[in-house]
Amino acid sequence: MPIITFANTKGGAGKTTAVLLLSTELARQGYRVTILDADPQRWISRWHETGEPLKNITVISYVTAATIQGMISSNRAKTDYFILDLPGASTPLLATAIGMSDHVLIPIQGCAMDAKGGAQVLELLKYLEDKANIRIPHSVVLTRVNSMVTTRALQVVKALLAERKVRVLDTPIIERSAYRDLFDYGCSLYEMEAERFSNLDKAKENAEAFAMEVQGYVPNRMIRAQEQEPVRLPRTVRSAA
Ligand SMILES: Nc1ncnc2c1ncn2[C@@H]1O[C@H](COP(=O)(O)OP(=O)(O)OP(=O)(O)O)[C@@H](O)[C@H]1O
Ligand SMILES: [Mg+2]
Repeated sequence: MPIITFANTKGGAGKTTAVLLLSTELARQGYRVTILDADPQRWISRWHETGEPLKNITVISYVTAATIQGMISSNRAKTDYFILDLPGASTPLLATAIGMSDHVLIPIQGCAMDAKGGAQVLELLKYLEDKANIRIPHSVVLTRVNSMVTTRALQVVKALLAERKVRVLDTPIIERSAYRDLFDYGCSLYEMEAERFSNLDKAKENAEAFAMEVQGYVPNRMIRAQEQEPVRLPRTVRSAA
């Protein structure tokens, strides 16, 4: 069961929103998703407690460095994907979580000049590779990108990442009011009514494209094996150890 971690030590980069979009898309495709909520503010847990229970989604709250391994072991059999939402700060869980992950996604606001929180995660990933020869696949996902204009700041951030040879997903997460509304209604985009929420179709399209791109990097091994396709396992800490 792949473990996908969303990390950026800067608050408000769009981690929780991206976790929600990916998790609800995977659940819609029929995958059983367990979201590990490591943020003491419990945004994902509160979203899950609001509204009707969503099929294929389980949320575990209060995940810490001390409990994460046990939580993964005890839920492994009933989960196709683990998605971890980290708090927007540097915590002891960060290094542990990164080391356990099959893929780390680093949300960075396309318009923000300070991609510092993202850089901190990238430095940790580089440290693991250089010092321990552990390479964790990772990508930056640009978030809250304005749908109308490509800002200069966004180009600067992209160029900087390309210079450092950091992969940036082709699909940015666009700034959409529907993504904010998800938290108020405790649902997925698919329970929303098109008449009441603006640009819902575009929001769905964007979320779907984002999830598809992530799945390209983190295939679910169980399903792939059933389809008898050649499986290219992501190099994990376990396999590298
Ligand atoms: N793509 C988006 N479109 C519209 N609003 C967004 C988008 N992404 C994030 N937001 C809003 O920005 C705020 C911060 O986003 P979010 O909670 O996802 O960030 P975070 O990185 O998880 O923050 P923290 O570090 O505090 O946990 C929230 O109010 C959220 O609704
Ligand atoms: Mg958050």
